[in-house]
Amino acid sequence: MDGECDLVVFGAAGDLSGRKLFPALFQLHCAGLLAPQSRIVALARRPQTQETFANDLLERLGGLAESADEQWSSFTERLHYCCLDFNDGKQYALLRTLLKPGRRAIYYLATPPSLFGAICEKLSAQQLIDEYSRVVLEKPIGQDLASCRAVNETVGRLVAEENIYRIDHYLGKETVQNLLVLRFANRFINTQWDQSCIDHIQITVAETVGIEGRWSYYNEVGQLRDMVQNHLVQLLCLVAMEPPNAMTAESIRDEKVKILRALRRIDAASVSAHAVRGQYAQGWYRGSAVPGYLEEEDCTVGDSDTETFVAIKAHIDNWRWAGVPFYLRTGKRLPEKLTEIVITYKSLPHNIFSAGDNIPNRLVIRLQPNEGIAMQMVSKLHSLKNKMALVRQNLNLDFLGSSGMSRIPDAYERLFLDVINGDPSLFVGREEVEEAWQWCDALIAAWDAQAMPVSPYHAGSWGPAKAELLIERDGRSWHE
Ligand code: BG6
Repeated sequence: MDGECDLVVFGAAGDLSGRKLFPALFQLHCAGLLAPQSRIVALARRPQTQETFANDLLERLGGLAESADEQWSSFTERLHYCCLDFNDGKQYALLRTLLKPGRRAIYYLATPPSLFGAICEKLSAQQLIDEYSRVVLEKPIGQDLASCRAVNETVGRLVAEENIYRIDHYLGKETVQNLLVLRFANRFINTQWDQSCIDHIQITVAETVGIEGRWSYYNEVGQLRDMVQNHLVQLLCLVAMEPPNAMTAESIRDEKVKILRALRRIDAASVSAHAVRGQYAQGWYRGSAVPGYLEEEDCTVGDSDTETFVAIKAHIDNWRWAGVPFYLRTGKRLPEKLTEIVITYKSLPHNIFSAGDNIPNRLVIRLQPNEGIAMQMVSKLHSLKNKMALVRQNLNLDFLGSSGMSRIPDAYERLFLDVINGDPSLFVGREEVEEAWQWCDALIAAWDAQAMPVSPYHAGSWGPAKAELLIERDGRSWHE
């Protein structure tokens, strides 16, 4: 059965499928990484022909497919479109006729989480799930701990945990995998990775886009559930976890769960000093006026206190990280699309250079754009006038430049391959996702208890002033 499969995408006409899933599958096809016999079954509610679906997809792939004409036509041979009402159990019989008996089926559920359980039940009722089937669940898994548990329980009754792949696409990003290598293949890094050497850690996930046609969905969810509960918390776990004893899903998940359990809960008493929520108002991006959250085209209400920005000061209560704050921030309509982790080391214990020259080292891990890692070192300024003036300079690791490749593969390409090859190490385990919800639920409850309003910020700025205060109160500042 090696690598050969029927890949069934539920929600094939949705935004994620068009933007990420099908482009990734097409890239894998072009790179010869899909087994020749593997097929892609695209399922959506919309009645349309196979041809219309393929043409729409071609349009959405744009230049990607046009530059690879032959590849596109062989890709469409793998592609089978089928209109299916996901809630109608009887229609699943049709799916049965499409799948090849004896071949592994991989069900990719790119649907709202409220459908995950129901889809699996219907697949199971039609005997479409066997010991070889795999089910991929897109984030978010639920809206809170209770709904997440309900999904995990229903899906878990029908599919063995080792066949459930919970996707957090940030784990498929090249630099995230490289973070594991940086930490666990470089001895000197790991020996300097704790409270004795590190002053604080920042994780920033900034986006320039607004809500992009997803307003109704997003307004129910907000930035904490959409980005922090999964992407930022996962990054934090990978930065903070102890070395796993092997690169297996089990060892990595065990270590991540320990961090999640040590992540200090933010309660009503501590929330105002530890978490800021913001919402973008009208502003400017690259010289053009952009609307506020409540003026977005598909906004359906006059008022909303959903947050589009979150900044958090988090603590991990364990031996390694005692006293080291983790500052997290993420938001929509910020000035740059940028994801980075910045490790700031402690200042020198004793400075033999001039008083102002105690410049701490920094390690900047860039997830996007310009994937790479820069170690900010202190060196001497070349100057005859200033004999011992110091400057900060970068030792730079540029992943694209050093790879000889023309592009860095998208996270979904990596993750599709891993599902096909049965490697769950970059996927999220049940316990992890539930622990992460538990932490987020506590924060949401604290916000509610304090009736914490959203602080407005101008689109195109770095968030509300309170987010600056959150870090500046501690005598630190966000990395620019
Ligand atoms: C998704 C969120 O998980 O990640 C989106 O639902 C967000 O709101 C997206 O825009 C960001 O992903 P990336 O890979 O573009 O940083």
